[in-house]
Amino acid sequence: MNVIIKKDYDEICEQIAEQTIEQIKSKPESLICMPGGDTPLGVFKYLIQKVKEQNIDLSKCSFVSLDEWISLDRSVKGSCIQTLFDELYDKIDIDLQNQVCFFNGKAKDLDVECQRVDKFIFDKGGIDLVVLGIGMNGHIGFNEPGVDTEKYCTIVPLDDVTRSVSVKYFGEQLNLEYGITLGMKHLLGAKDVILIANGTKKADIVKAVVQGEVSNKVPASLIRNIEKSQLFVDEEAASKL
Ligand code: PGA
Repeated sequence: MNVIIKKDYDEICEQIAEQTIEQIKSKPESLICMPGGDTPLGVFKYLIQKVKEQNIDLSKCSFVSLDEWISLDRSVKGSCIQTLFDELYDKIDIDLQNQVCFFNGKAKDLDVECQRVDKFIFDKGGIDLVVLGIGMNGHIGFNEPGVDTEKYCTIVPLDDVTRSVSVKYFGEQLNLEYGITLGMKHLLGAKDVILIANGTKKADIVKAVVQGEVSNKVPASLIRNIEKSQLFVDEEAASKL
């Protein structure tokens, strides 16, 4: 894994947006996975801007969302899908019916929901580029500490850290117990993986990801096994390296 330290979050976002554009230019039918959460918001801003400026044709590419809180849908501000639609999908020229796949956190049969998203990814030959934030506990998507690395899409009980951090998205403690997520098999099988961490609050987990053991106890550390992967950090998140 290549660790890239940038001055600040803005520089990170601009570069990742540019890499995403390059990916689409080199393979127009790319399958791209973007997360919800706070981390990717700057990437979305630059991506929307660059797509317009460079007149990028998105008509052949597809997007799959990384994860969702079980029991939430787009009507809840702070859900992954609300963030992705409002901050990205609705602002670029794509066919929302056919080019976008996301988890319905309210699906009646969650196993069938996992199979549906698995099929979308398999039909496209796997993920070409996945952008991931890192949770305070080292999770990626809802692949929590102790993750079973053999899973594709899967339902996961949420870690206590994840539940307490969730207040920042919803402004209150919702009763959230499970997540639905692309599992490690999808993430470790992606052709290109970009991790992002910014801010002083991520400095400890960045140190664990980069310098600790490669272990399912810190799921993001498993990305070190992917030679071509990149971890972008700003100076604050890199301050303990
Ligand atoms: P954040 O969340 O981008 O809001 O920091 C990252 C994560 O928990 O995966």
